[in-house]
Amino acid sequence: MSYVTRTRIYPVDPHQPAPGIIDIAAQAIRDGRLVAFPTETVYGLGAKATDADAVARIFAAKQRPTTDPIIVHIASVAALEGVAVDVPALAYTLAAQFWPGALTLVLRRADLIPANVSAGRTTVAVRMPDHSVARALIEAAGLPIAAPSANTFSRPSATTAAHVLHDLEDHVDVILNGGAARIGLESTVLDLTGSVPIILRPGGVTLEALRTVIPNLQVRERFRAADETADSPGELLRHYAPNAALYLLVGDVEQVNRYMRDHSAALRLQGVRVGILAPDEEADAFRGDGVPVVALGSRGDLAGIGHGLFAHLREIDRLNVDVILIRAFPREGLGAALWDRLVRAAEGRVIDVR
Ligand code: TXA
Ligand code: MG
Repeated sequence: MSYVTRTRIYPVDPHQPAPGIIDIAAQAIRDGRLVAFPTETVYGLGAKATDADAVARIFAAKQRPTTDPIIVHIASVAALEGVAVDVPALAYTLAAQFWPGALTLVLRRADLIPANVSAGRTTVAVRMPDHSVARALIEAAGLPIAAPSANTFSRPSATTAAHVLHDLEDHVDVILNGGAARIGLESTVLDLTGSVPIILRPGGVTLEALRTVIPNLQVRERFRAADETADSPGELLRHYAPNAALYLLVGDVEQVNRYMRDHSAALRLQGVRVGILAPDEEADAFRGDGVPVVALGSRGDLAGIGHGLFAHLREIDRLNVDVILIRAFPREGLGAALWDRLVRAAEGRVIDVR
């Protein structure tokens, strides 16, 4: 049973949100209710970060395991002191360069932040989003806002208000509709609490950009099987998954596309419904034979493909296919985040056709 009677949706100007609307949403946050709001990465499902009961509602609404910690969102660097303690100088250096933006820092948790936000850990993940609506909401609420991505657990993240409504209708009080999220992939999660800074999740701020500030940066290999006890629960392999079984194909573009055409023909002979996700330039080659194809954007534009990825996963799912085929993209820059999300959407079904 949900505590929400009926979800209220308000359109907001993503650049200059009307204060009246922000005040309604901020009041809901202060009352311990859930508000979904746009950020530059994906939509967040927000609650008062200082209120364990409000935070518990996030887990319930998303059907998220309480072992998976949540990011706390702030509107100024100064607010960092309220949510974290023993903040290293490196955090301020990174904040000066990358905030507001798609970088989440894992730090030591302050007492003000209840333990359930961090799934019982002594750390807290913190981010200042680069979105006027998100920051206006945090400022008007006068509190840090805990917010995971606003999707049902293990589904593709929500990059539009329509996605939020689809997953969370009547489980979220207020949805602020500020249009499509600009980046479309979640933030980079960087842990600063260990002996060496380590990326726990690649995201909107690239590894290459971070290495200019942190030359000894480490990256955690995080593709674990779902039944393993995850060190950071975000590591669970099953994540961002469409209903259909997605296969991620690795190799030379020509080879992969030939494999995809042959394989989809063979599967269809067996009565398996196949859908294909392909860049614009390659999509036509798969059309015909009645195979549903969703175009991902131009293949040279990884940012564009990242922007639409979750929406396209949801779109192809609606076509009721059993199997989805997609090729891998180069892993540099934003490509690292794309690769990560696709491996997870594929639940490890990665086929090397070489
Ligand atoms: O871009 C984003 O990060 C979006 C927007 C809404 O800010 N949020 C988001 O939240 O993607 P979520 O909950 O879907 O993913 C948060 C990730 C998870 O992988 C979680 O395990 C990790 O951050 N995380 C959160 N707190 C952590 C902590 N204290 N230690 C280690 N990992 C943590
Ligand atoms: Mg998420």
